[in-house]
Amino acid sequence: MTTAILSALPEEQSGLVDSLQQARRVTHAGRAFWEGELHGKPVVLALSGIGKVAAATTATVLAERFRVARIVFTGVAGGVGEGVRVGDVVVARDYVQHDMDASPLFARWQVPGYPGVRLPCDSALSAHLSGAVGACLESAGVDFHVNPEGRLPRLHEGLVASGDRFVTCAQVSRALREPLVAAGHDVLAVEMEGAAVAQVCLDYGVPFAAVRTISDRADDDAHVDFPLFIQTVASRYADHIVRHLLKLL
Ligand code: ADE
Repeated sequence: MTTAILSALPEEQSGLVDSLQQARRVTHAGRAFWEGELHGKPVVLALSGIGKVAAATTATVLAERFRVARIVFTGVAGGVGEGVRVGDVVVARDYVQHDMDASPLFARWQVPGYPGVRLPCDSALSAHLSGAVGACLESAGVDFHVNPEGRLPRLHEGLVASGDRFVTCAQVSRALREPLVAAGHDVLAVEMEGAAVAQVCLDYGVPFAAVRTISDRADDDAHVDFPLFIQTVASRYADHIVRHLLKLL
């Protein structure tokens, strides 16, 4: 029962690879996959690549070739929901592709061939992931990002949006979020891969869960906040959360 741990960027993956026991590096489809044991559990670690198509290819290889039992994504996202701040953690309940629009043939944002606008994550695996994040925030809060007002990071659960765009402007963020919220889709965060992995996992019947730490607010400061967070904090979050999660599986 191998668990795949997907990261978007090498900085987020490096701590996991360093802790991997009996590590074997396998390449396939131009990607590196690290098989081994992490905290006593069989895992395969992979980089998703950036954007929906790259992430879909990686997820397909994990399902087809590695026959993984589940896929867990740990990465960062831009916070767009109210009260979703830098350093907070979002566990996705479901995903939407914010750049999918085949209207009027299909509802806006609906991926044709799938039942609704939202692509659901696996509820049992997501509950374990929320449990792991909760335990991390309690036990290691100080190790995480504490914002300038001294506010400790919070856990949010809900809808995450993916699309092939790094959102680095408040106006674009509003234009993306407001129509979704008006249609009843209260989106918490935006990133570039999760919805594609969710779609592939639905196709293969592979349970999928995703956790995204908020690196920026998808606003005019995102281009500064994002790299700073990636370099200083992101891998600590991934290491703690994955360790707690594997204990629960
Ligand atoms: N991942 C992290 N921050 C992001 C942003 N602002 N836009 C898209 N993906 C992101």
